Amino acid sequence: MPRALQLLLALLLASPLPWLAGCRPDAASVPPVTTMPAGPDPHSVARPAEVRVWHFGLDVDVDFAARTLAGTITLAVQRDDPRAPLRLDTRALLIERVEVATAPAPLRREDVVLAGFDAPWRAATWQLGAVDRHLGAGLQVELEPGVDLVRITYRTSPEASGLQWLTPEQTGDHAAPFLYSQSQAIHARSWFPCQDSPGIRASYDAQVRAPAPTVPLMAADPIPARDPNAKAFAMRQPIPAYLVALAVGRVEFRALGERTGVWAEPSMLDRAAHEFADIERMLGAIEALYGPYRWGRYDVLVLPPAFPFGGMENPKLTFATPTIIAGDRSLVSLVAHELAHSWSGNLVTNATWADLWLNEGFTVYIERRIIEALFGRERADMDAVLGRQDLDEAFAELGADDQRLRLSLDGRDPDEGLSDVAYEKGALLLRALEEAYGREAFDPFLLAWFEGHAFGSVTTVEFEAFAAEHLPAAPLPGRASVDLRAWLDAPGVPASAPVPRAKAFDAIDAVVPAFVAGELTAAALPSAAWTPQQWLHFLRALPEHTPQERLVALDAAFGLTRSGNAEILAQWLELAIRQGYRGSDAALESFLLGIGRRKFLMPLYRALLTAARGDEARKIFARARPGYHPITQASLDELLHPSAAASATASP
Ligand code: BES
Ligand code: ZN
Repeated sequence: MPRALQLLLALLLASPLPWLAGCRPDAASVPPVTTMPAGPDPHSVARPAEVRVWHFGLDVDVDFAARTLAGTITLAVQRDDPRAPLRLDTRALLIERVEVATAPAPLRREDVVLAGFDAPWRAATWQLGAVDRHLGAGLQVELEPGVDLVRITYRTSPEASGLQWLTPEQTGDHAAPFLYSQSQAIHARSWFPCQDSPGIRASYDAQVRAPAPTVPLMAADPIPARDPNAKAFAMRQPIPAYLVALAVGRVEFRALGERTGVWAEPSMLDRAAHEFADIERMLGAIEALYGPYRWGRYDVLVLPPAFPFGGMENPKLTFATPTIIAGDRSLVSLVAHELAHSWSGNLVTNATWADLWLNEGFTVYIERRIIEALFGRERADMDAVLGRQDLDEAFAELGADDQRLRLSLDGRDPDEGLSDVAYEKGALLLRALEEAYGREAFDPFLLAWFEGHAFGSVTTVEFEAFAAEHLPAAPLPGRASVDLRAWLDAPGVPASAPVPRAKAFDAIDAVVPAFVAGELTAAALPSAAWTPQQWLHFLRALPEHTPQERLVALDAAFGLTRSGNAEILAQWLELAIRQGYRGSDAALESFLLGIGRRKFLMPLYRALLTAARGDEARKIFARARPGYHPITQASLDELLHPSAAASATASP
């Protein structure tokens, strides 16, 4: 994931959510405003120790014309403080009605279905709090004695930050509209009222109606629907709200193995099935290390190209960008990553976003163990070296506080914590522990971490305590000891940090100077058997002063401008902009217009600005903007139109 993100975040976070302006619920329908103090998670108003949602049922209609979800959510609450109200997170939701009831009989997680649930509903007392620019508005519902169910009738805003609505033209097949959710970190609240903290888990069921030929799909198991016009789903394992996911489109399924498969638009299905053929083996490789897969099925949904991320680990159903389909399976480490989250993140979850490294650092570490198990150590080492380069770029751009693994995000948008520090420094710490104690000790340690915290949430403090208790007292003879405190709380990485090396890169480092100096022609590069990772390393290794003729020669010899590998193409296009090579301009424009992945977009637009091509960048952006995700739009508004973005959000 990478460098694009740091800056992205910086931007995103610096700016209040501009797309929310003007989409507050209609004043007339909103009860009076109160301010609610935050709970222990600074990014949620929920107070789970008082009242906790343990299951909910979502019953919604998808309206592509209005760009809204509308319907009800029914929440089952556990009340540990009988006088406390239920506090939910919302953002830009129009709340129409709130009702309460007492369940006629005890509800059990294993079989409860709350979508469309009948109960003796009566009107409740409720109020929406003031709008916080990062958090949205808290919804407080008074609970009388005996009440254990709450039903909220609501609709979403067309600008919901967690949903992207695509026209048929914005999909791969141009045949039907498409809707998908992206809830991490705190966007679930923009499409259903919830306790939107990663430290709070609930099971759920859902019933969704969508117009043919689109079909609703959720990151959950299909179940029979009460309403014959709906599709219904159930997630029986308790999960945090950021893992609730919905997609609605014209997609088809292809099985890959016993418990794995792929969903994609029909024109993409063959290529996707070919690309992901190794998933079943990946699953086996992780299970051998960290225990059984606890989620039943594992499928991947390939989204239209507008998806702003590489992948999102929605349980049972990873959402993925089509840009990982390179034809040669070279970018499947992304699938390994999202699959690894089935342990690190989905099974054992960071308690707050300040602990993000417990999700992402663990996941990058496991991702590389999977790559090693399937494809060998050399390929995993190349990933580690590229990752270390990303980390160094992140350090160069981030202040000391944001270089720590233990983040402090109070008063900030949680996306501000999203940088390569959580990913790559986190993974490097686990590798340091692995090297200090050996896999014989470290593999069982991680297994115990997952088993001991399954379906729970964890903090960095808990990790420290667990390490103190379960790691051997001393490192193996001759190995460096790991100063955990320094890793967690100091900027940069300790001097004793492992240094990833890949032999396959040494040969490249050896020829770069001669190539740059013109002593070695492009055609004479020993590149015949270079893997995509080696190409990436080569392109990254070219210094600022590489003469433009070298790029012309490279493009002529290798057709980089036509690369079907999105990672290589993006790296190449950025280099071309920086070095003033114009032979890729047409490809650049169609890339920026066709793809919504922020990791690729941000560095490219930024490079255009640096190269004094801002007017061109703004022109392309004006055309591309309607196809970008709301979050991507906001980041790019800020980058390309800073004064307009600032004044649009300056008003109270
Ligand atoms: N969970 C993340 C995506 C995410 C993180 C979304 C934080 C919102 C907030 C996902 O697992 C991820 O890390 N995706 C990466 C790919 C991965 C191979 C590093 C991405 O999208 O680039
Ligand atoms: Zn991840």
